[in-house]
Amino acid sequence: MDTEVVNPWASDQSVDIERLHAEFGIERIETVTDLLPETPDFIRRGIVFGHRDYHQIANAIRTNEPFNVMTGFMPSGHPHLGHLMVMKEVVWHVQQGGRGFICIADREAHAVRNLSWEQCRKYGDEYLSCLYALGYHGETYEQSSNRVVQDLAFEASAKVNFSELSAIYGFTPDTDIGHAMSVLTQVADILHPQVNEEPAPTVVPVGLDQDPHIRLTRGVAHKLRMFTVEDRDTHVSVRSKEAPEEAMEAVHKAFKGSKRYEGHIDITGVPLDVVKKTVRAIERTHGGYGFVTPSATFHRFMPGLTGGKMSSSIPESIIGFYEDDKKVTKKIMSALTGGRMTLQEQKELGGEADKCPVFLLNLFHMVSDDAELAEIRRKCMAGELMCGQCKKETAARVLAFLDEFREKMAVVADQIRSEKSCL
Ligand code: TRP
Repeated sequence: MDTEVVNPWASDQSVDIERLHAEFGIERIETVTDLLPETPDFIRRGIVFGHRDYHQIANAIRTNEPFNVMTGFMPSGHPHLGHLMVMKEVVWHVQQGGRGFICIADREAHAVRNLSWEQCRKYGDEYLSCLYALGYHGETYEQSSNRVVQDLAFEASAKVNFSELSAIYGFTPDTDIGHAMSVLTQVADILHPQVNEEPAPTVVPVGLDQDPHIRLTRGVAHKLRMFTVEDRDTHVSVRSKEAPEEAMEAVHKAFKGSKRYEGHIDITGVPLDVVKKTVRAIERTHGGYGFVTPSATFHRFMPGLTGGKMSSSIPESIIGFYEDDKKVTKKIMSALTGGRMTLQEQKELGGEADKCPVFLLNLFHMVSDDAELAEIRRKCMAGELMCGQCKKETAARVLAFLDEFREKMAVVADQIRSEKSCL
């Protein structure tokens, strides 16, 4: 299928990604799509549009090497349809062989949003039900009860100062320390899968709003390394940052014929990947972390039914997993659309599907068949499908989806309880 047809943002958001690339170094997802053995819906439909260092994840998927997929949810309210995309991305990566890690960011919700621990726990469990209902397998934890994360957050905090936080987040001298701590906790969330297991590439699927955390974390991962390993065409250079003498010597010994200088070691005739792996292992036996710098994917947000963001603070904008059918139907029937002012105009000009929250609801989650989705879009834009009819059909799809999803959530609720009791 022609991707132009199902990618409603192909033209008008391309400028954005160019800017994101120039200013922040985020790359277009198309630069790595071909490396994947299959293209998931969320890439084919233009929902995931950008990445950092995703090559290493795509390569790991293709060659069956270990990798992690890790993300977090702030339990500041009930989960809703706006959270579904990132959950699906996580589940897909787990199905591709990734080890899963899901964080319930209760410390962040408590420090930044003022939620009680009890509320955090309740909402957190709801998020986990959704994930399990989608078929998630892997680890889950709350920030407040993960000691590995807490210790790592402390180590990370030694590598970050206030001016860096001000530059990235606009923190001022009045910003409370809890806020700063929750930022460092997120850094630790992302890196902790590499602490008790061999370091491995880790992908963090997030919305663009989380990129500051991704950049900070990548910086900290680098700062916590003892060595840097760089390709210099004729040789590979291993540079010591804070490596103890014994670790330097171990690297020198590991590569026959390598030359040792004051702060670095030059190695010839060994592939970069092999040097990286060996150096990482040596770093770990000498008490270092040997982190692989984490990767990220960035997705667009599904718009809310009222046109802006889908956000719990605007009840009319969201479809909640726990809302009754009547309410859901009512919200969809009164949603903003890409329809024209009058029926006559709509018939003549057609609707603006690519800007329509109802169409995008179908594109994100409700119509899995590409041909069916393309037909809805075509009929809308040709003035054949009117908003009332389209909304009715969409509402029917949403209700069917919710019905099945709730049933699955009820089944997995027990799974959450029993897994927690094992802790
Ligand atoms: N800060 C994220 C949010 O506001 C939640 C979060 C916590 C997270 N830890 C994370 C996201 C680790 C990705 C990775 O939603």
